[in-house]
Amino acid sequence: NKGLQVAIDGPASAGKSTVAKLVAKKFNYVYCDTGAMYRAVTLEVLNQGIDPNDEKAIAEIARQVKIDFEPGESEQRVFLNGEEVTHAIRLPKVAENVSAIAAVPEVRAEMTRQQRQIAEKGGIVMDGRDIGTTVLPNAPVKIFMVASAYERARRRYVENKAKGIDTTSLEELQKAIELRDKKDSTRKVSPLTQAADAVRLDTTNLTIDEVVDKISQIIKKTQ
Ligand code: C5P
Repeated sequence: NKGLQVAIDGPASAGKSTVAKLVAKKFNYVYCDTGAMYRAVTLEVLNQGIDPNDEKAIAEIARQVKIDFEPGESEQRVFLNGEEVTHAIRLPKVAENVSAIAAVPEVRAEMTRQQRQIAEKGGIVMDGRDIGTTVLPNAPVKIFMVASAYERARRRYVENKAKGIDTTSLEELQKAIELRDKKDSTRKVSPLTQAADAVRLDTTNLTIDEVVDKISQIIKKTQ
């Protein structure tokens, strides 16, 4: 049994990565955070001082950067060209710019290519916005995870505080999350949308364990 491909999509801060990590651990699957890949490209664009409208230069960055994941103690570590960026990719300046960078067609093409390679052998839980629709359209398990904007902002706020990440107010966080959802849902290439065959899971009133259990049951039924 080589393991299934599990696609988890949904809007910002719906709890995808927390749940995806736990599900991967439970089934001994690999976890891949595709948002971290778009964030790493964005960080490099910012670091190099590239004009956010210069699509050609941005596409070049996406093709050149080397993004690696390594399991860490409590979180997955992310490396950009060999340098650890686990925390840097969570900074507000990255969150503010990532949707624009992720809307560049060549950036999506390159990330999608790398993500398919990572998922090729199966036994993977991949989370993002377009995994079920575009990256792995044949994944046997697809989850579309949603929660109210207020609840998502609240969770992110608590998480930022716990991790010691510089955070804005709850209200500002909610506004930023809603703005990012809007940009991700209205872009031309692979917008955030539920795949026809995805299971919709509203986590507003569910605990992390309850969500993990629901997804685990779906995986077991599919295996
Ligand atoms: O998941 P996370 O919130 O870290 O993703 C950051 C951003 O990366 C999203 O707001 C979206 O613009 C982009 N993204 C994407 N496609 C994915 C994953 C993330 O466009 N599969």
